[in-house]
Amino acid sequence: MKYTDRHNHSILEELEEKALMEHIPIIRKTERQILKKALEQAKPNKILEIGTAWGYSALLMAEWCPWACIDTLELDQDRAEKAREYIKEAGCQDRIRCIAGDAAHTIPQMQGPYDFLYLDGPKGQYLRHMKAVEPLLSARAVTAADNVLFRGWVEGTLQVPRRFRTIAVRMRAYVAYMKENYETDIYPDGDGMMIAWRKKTE
Ligand SMILES: C[S@@+](CC[C@H](N)C(=O)[O-])C[C@H]1O[C@@H](n2cnc3c(N)ncnc32)[C@H](O)[C@@H]1O
Repeated sequence: MKYTDRHNHSILEELEEKALMEHIPIIRKTERQILKKALEQAKPNKILEIGTAWGYSALLMAEWCPWACIDTLELDQDRAEKAREYIKEAGCQDRIRCIAGDAAHTIPQMQGPYDFLYLDGPKGQYLRHMKAVEPLLSARAVTAADNVLFRGWVEGTLQVPRRFRTIAVRMRAYVAYMKENYETDIYPDGDGMMIAWRKKTE
């Protein structure tokens, strides 16, 4: 079937509905708008996403940036397979590549330069993944990271339940690293989305 916006829209709607039923996490509505705005400003030619799930956000990014190529990394083989099916159905298989495996292992196999990075994989691994991707980022690259406020446990004084402490501590380290090395904005709606771009050199 020939790709059209309308066709892609109905695939996105179906994907969203099924993902909700199967408890597959996908980007929330508030964060979608922030991501869209960041992409409109960055106008990336090449995008790297960590955390594909079923490919919802990858397909959204493909719709918003119809000129761009996207590499998206997913740990879970079944999810990656499902994402590839949706990507093919949307006619985007020439622009979106879904790579299965642990991002810690697949990132070093990727070829940049990427103008946009979307971090939406394991919340305790953002800093590790960021440092691994940094050599692949172009000079104008923008990084978006979802869930940086992680249920209010990253900034502020809320008590973090024991089982989430490691994630909260690691997310704090990610936020601190980004604030030190990049220009950053955190949008607090939803679970917190950070947009980061390179500091201007003097
Ligand atoms: C929040 S979901 C991604 C949602 C997707 N970006 C969307 O909005 O449609 C996070 C995904 O990261 C994947 N993930 C977890 N650990 C990973 C790892 N080490 N490497 C790659 N992907 C990983 C999970 O399997 C899960 O599907």
